[in-house]
This record gives sequence, C-alpha cells and structure tokens, in this order.
Amino acid sequence: MAEVVIVSDKEEAGRIVAEAIARRVHARPDTVLGLATGSTPLPVYESLRESLAGADVSRVRGFALDEYVGLDPAHPESYRSVIAREVVEPLGLDPDRVHVPSGALEGIETAGERYEAAIAAAGGIELQVLGIGTDGHIGFNEPGSSFASRTRVKTLTRQTREDNARFFDSIDDVPMHCITQGLGTILEARQLVLLAFGEGKAEAVAGAVEGPLTASLPGSAIQLHPRATVVVDEAAAARLRYADYYRYTYANKPEWQRI
Ligand code: F6R
Repeated sequence: MAEVVIVSDKEEAGRIVAEAIARRVHARPDTVLGLATGSTPLPVYESLRESLAGADVSRVRGFALDEYVGLDPAHPESYRSVIAREVVEPLGLDPDRVHVPSGALEGIETAGERYEAAIAAAGGIELQVLGIGTDGHIGFNEPGSSFASRTRVKTLTRQTREDNARFFDSIDDVPMHCITQGLGTILEARQLVLLAFGEGKAEAVAGAVEGPLTASLPGSAIQLHPRATVVVDEAAAARLRYADYYRYTYANKPEWQRI
C-alpha cells in the first residue's frame, strides 16, 4: 500500500515534496526527475525555487509525463511550454536536459519508442511526480489502460477534455489525443509521489489507494509500486477509509524515514 500523507493545504504539500526532491538533487546532482504538468504540481515547483536556491542544478535531468498531440509546441498550454515556464526557467535547469514527449504529427508513430529509449539512456527516473485525473488517470493513462503499457498515443476521455478546458478558450480547443508515459513506464520510476487536492479528487484518490487493482482506475497501479507516497489535502482525503491510520502513521514516522 502507498504511504499517505494528509496535509492542511497545497503549500504544505509543496514544501514536503520539494524538500524530498531537493534532497535527491543534493545527493545526486544529475538526478532524473519525472515531471507532471496540470495545476496539481505547481506548489511543488514553486517551493522548489526556495528548496533548490543555491544548489547546483546544471546537471539535473527531467522527463515530462505527457504531451498533447498536434498542438503547436509554442502554444502556451503545450506541456513543452508549461514545463519551460513552470520548471525549467524558474529553477534555472538546463533546457537540453529536460525532455517532453514529442506530440508532433510527423514521426508520432515512433515518438513513444524514442521517449522510452531516452528515459532508459538516462538510467531511468529517480522520483516521479504525479497528479491524478478525476477519472483516475495518471499521466494520460485513461481508464482501461494496461498496467504494462509504455509511452504511446492515447485518446483523451471527454471528462479529461472537460477538466482541461479551463486551460484553453473552449473544450473544442483541447486536443483529442495525447502521448503519455505508460503505466508500465511510470511503475519503473524508483519512487512515485502522487499529489491531489480538493474534493473533486477524493473518489479517484480513494480508488487509487484503497480500491481494487483495476485498469478501470489507472491510478490504482501505484499499489504495485514498492515506494509510492500520496500527498493529499483533507478534501482529497475525504473518502479514504483508513485516513486516521495514515495520520497516526505519519505523526509517528521516524525522522530518518522521510519521503
Ligand atoms: C499531467 C498529467 C495528468 C494530471 C491530471 C490532473 O502531466 O499527467 O495526469 O496530473 O490530469 O490534472 P490537474 O493537476 O490539472 O488536476
């Protein structure tokens, strides 16, 4: 079962996860981070500005989880642009070391394979940051995704396109397809840290952490990972059956056993 940390707000979640990332970077300056986009990880990236201040980040490497297919990479909501704006530029990372899957139509048939090869060449991902969709997706692995899946093109559900319409002028502007690390790819990261905030995520979080392992709720794949931490606010934790136990466990967590 994943470790569950229930925090009072997004800022606290951001601080805890940013500190965990900063420790990895201090221990290994060329560490490989797995980067989620969307609104959930933003407090982590904001906190990292402080946690990494003064650290040598010139060799840090990163791999985004996913990208829209067919969206101009220069579009402000392409994940290439989001990663540049929210992560690479503010943290001062080397843009050549931070990768986003290519959503360009030309060469899309082999883009997944090429991305997998780049992750393998980097020695795999050390710590993968994840959000979760209201339909339970992680990355853009929509319900029904194989637990063994690799980076590939997927069709976004209507629900995900509605959820992400807030980043665009209208739902019609949200691309229909995406390229995403697979569940099998994500499970190979050495550590997973999934964040979720707000009541809209409560059901997906409960399913991912305590529900049956099922492709119908792709986030439940994290139960197969030996080192997965879920950081949630009270609202996102509202449907967790063992919330009291998670609070008790975290309150009594030995200092050396940090996330
Ligand atoms: C983003 C990603 C998605 C999001 C999820 C939640 O790279 O892979 O799984 O994490 O759609 O999105 P937000 O955080 O915007 O609620």
